[in-house]
Parts: sequence; C-alpha cells; structure tokens
Amino acid sequence: MRTLTVDLNERSYPIYIGRGIRQQKALFDEAIHGKQVMIVTNDTIAPLYLDAMVDMLSADYKVDTCILPDGEEFKTLDTYGTIMTSLLEAKHNRTTTVIALGGGVVGDMAGFAAATYQRGVPFIQVPTTLLSQVDSSVGGKTGVNHPLGKNMIGAFYQPQAVIIDTDSLLSLPQRELSAGMAEVIKYGLICDVPFFDWLEQEMPALMSLDNDKISEAIYRSCLAKANVVAQDEREGGVRAILNLGHTFGHAIETQMGYGNWLHGEAVAAGSVLAMDLSWRMGNITDEDFRRTVDLFKAAKLPILPPVNMTLANFVERMALDKKVLDGSLRLVLLGALGEAIVTSDFPMEDFNACLTDALEASKQANLAIS
Ligand code: NAD
Ligand code: GLY
Repeated sequence: MRTLTVDLNERSYPIYIGRGIRQQKALFDEAIHGKQVMIVTNDTIAPLYLDAMVDMLSADYKVDTCILPDGEEFKTLDTYGTIMTSLLEAKHNRTTTVIALGGGVVGDMAGFAAATYQRGVPFIQVPTTLLSQVDSSVGGKTGVNHPLGKNMIGAFYQPQAVIIDTDSLLSLPQRELSAGMAEVIKYGLICDVPFFDWLEQEMPALMSLDNDKISEAIYRSCLAKANVVAQDEREGGVRAILNLGHTFGHAIETQMGYGNWLHGEAVAAGSVLAMDLSWRMGNITDEDFRRTVDLFKAAKLPILPPVNMTLANFVERMALDKKVLDGSLRLVLLGALGEAIVTSDFPMEDFNACLTDALEASKQANLAIS
C-alpha cells in the first residue's frame, strides 16, 4: 500500500492506494469518529461492494446505507435530499461518519451531504472509478448539478481519508476506464512532462489494467492534485489549472444532457480544444499537439466535440463557467507543454476558429462513418 498526504494543516488527510484495501478495517477505524456510519452508494455499486463493507464495519459501528439511483442525471438537489432523509430517518447525530462508496457522482453528492448535514459531519471517500480515484475524491470539491450548469451548487469540504482500492477497477466498464484516463492525461499536460512521456509509453498496459502501472498512474495523479490543492484549497488561483478542458467540457456535458457524454469524455474533447487554442497562440508546438491527440486516442477517448453542437451553444454555455470573472471568460490553456496558465487573454478569432474547425471536423468524421 502507498500513502500520500493532502497537506492542509488541521484539515490534512491521508490518501491510501493499494489492492484490496477497501476491506482493511483499520484504515476506516482511524477515520471514523463516532459510532454511527452512513454508507452512501448507488444501485450499480451496491450489489458489487456494499455487503462486504457493511459486514466489516457492523462489528463496531451502527451501519446504515443509502442507495441512490445511478447516473449523472441524478446528481441533483433531489437526490441530495434523499441522503438527508436517510440520515434523519436513521437518527444520525453530529458524530456520524458518511462513507462515499462509488464514483465521482456518489462522492460529490455524499460529500455535499456530509458538508451540510447538521452543519457538517466527517466523511470518507472510497472511490471506485478511475476518475474518482485520480481526481474527484481528492481536494474537497463537493456538490450537485443544476439544469442550467454543472456543479453549480456545492461546498469545499475535505474528507477524513481517501481509501483507493485498485481492485475495484476490475469491475469497471472500459468506457469508464477511458473517461478516468482523461483526467490522468490532464496532469501530464498541466504540470508533469515526464509523466506525460511515461503515459505515452504505458497507455496499452494501463488500458489493460496492469496493476503496478495503474497504481503508479493513480499515485502520480493524486500527488499532482494534492500538491495543487495544498497551495490553493478554495481555488483562489493555481487550483484552476486542474480544470484544463473543463470549461469546454462542462458546456458539452450540459448541452448534451447529463450522462450522455461522460465527464471524462467531455474533458478529453475539451482538452483537445484547449490544446488547439494554445497551439494557435504559438504556445505549444505541432508535435506537442499531435502527441496529445494521439494519447487521447490511445486511451479510446473522443478528440472532437459532439457533431450536433454549434459555436453558439459553446459560447452560451461557457459564459456560465465558474471561472468567468467580471464578465470575461477565463480559460485554462498551456503556456508550454507541462505548464498550464489561466487566462482571459486569448484572441477571440482563434477561439472562434478552433471551435468552428473542430465542429466541422466532427461533421466530416460523422459523414465518413454514416
Ligand atoms: P460515476 O460516478 O457516474 O461512475 C461511472 C459509472 O461507473 C457509474 O455508472 C457507476 O455506477 C459505475 N461504477 C462505479 N464504480 C464502479 C465499479 N468499480 N465497477 C463497476 N461500475 C462502477 O462517474 P465518475 O466518472 O466516477 O465521476 C464523474 C463525476 O465526478 C462527475 O459528476 C464530475 O462532475 C465529478 N467530478 C468531480 C470532481 C471533484 O473535484 N469533486 C473532479 C472530477 C469530476
Ligand atoms: N477537478 C478540479 C478540482 O478539483 O479542482
């Protein structure tokens, strides 16, 4: 097992990465404060992993469960209300601990419930998708979607611990593995060129779930994220670089209807758009751009936006981004490979051209298939 720390003074916490550690009770005992536990999961993950966790913890705790419907389309205030109702009906008090057992959707919602139940109770992240293991379970962003925008309602609230069992990836569908790989590649692009080089070499092994390699990819990703979060917990500055591709990506997810394009797929297509704009601005080379596109392709991710979106759709959706400051759109771009910048200083004609060209390429690709 490997351990990392997210260094946030009194809110610091460990990230454990290892095989089978979902069933290491000692890791939970360290992080559970009282005698009550509420495990929040969904109806896909429950049949796979819930009973074993309930059995393990029931020896020492009063364990209740809350099983949510599966899907990004259920990441709503209504579903958040379901978690609150479960906590109240089972009479959980302020010393209860919420455990999020699942992917980013469960983690974001359970975290938001923990942040707000009786003004805040401890919680533990047990992420079960690659995406949640390398990104969403670390750093304390919690929340739900609004029909008008992704993750528009939420709170910064750090977990007590993140317990990453790499064995849970064995049951993950390949499309979800690819989606998680988008966030892994992101770390190489924004801050770690040697990691980007390593990913180019190891992508086939990673896609076939070689355990040593996937553990290494998770470790390096969590290390990068923990480092950024420790510098800027509440995204006053540098943390925004973690959103490479997300402004374009959130526009895609919202426009296409939550759950139709997976978050990681939208981030992949969005990252290619951000790289394209960075290339048009002369910040990265032809070779950097080509390598990035090839790496996303090797991870079986989309590199073009949805065929049925328009430039106007992007402009309208992106105007709602949380990084908009005083009315001007700020984007995460690259100043060079491995060096992200957050800027509103980009030529509008390049922004329009990169979207127009990508949308046209998407139409051509679609025509070629049909
Ligand atoms: P997800 O939670 O929807 O999980 C993907 C699918 O895999 C679901 O159907 C889920 O039930 C299933 N699943 C989960 N674990 C499984 C397993 N081990 N075996 C089989 N099936 C399994 O999606 P995700 O990609 O994990 O997370 C995406 C969400 O995370 C989005 O809502 C996004 O906004 C959010 N996110 C949050 C942050 C953050 O910092 N909080 C960062 C990135 C993404
Ligand atoms: N996923 C972006 C962040 O955690 O800041």
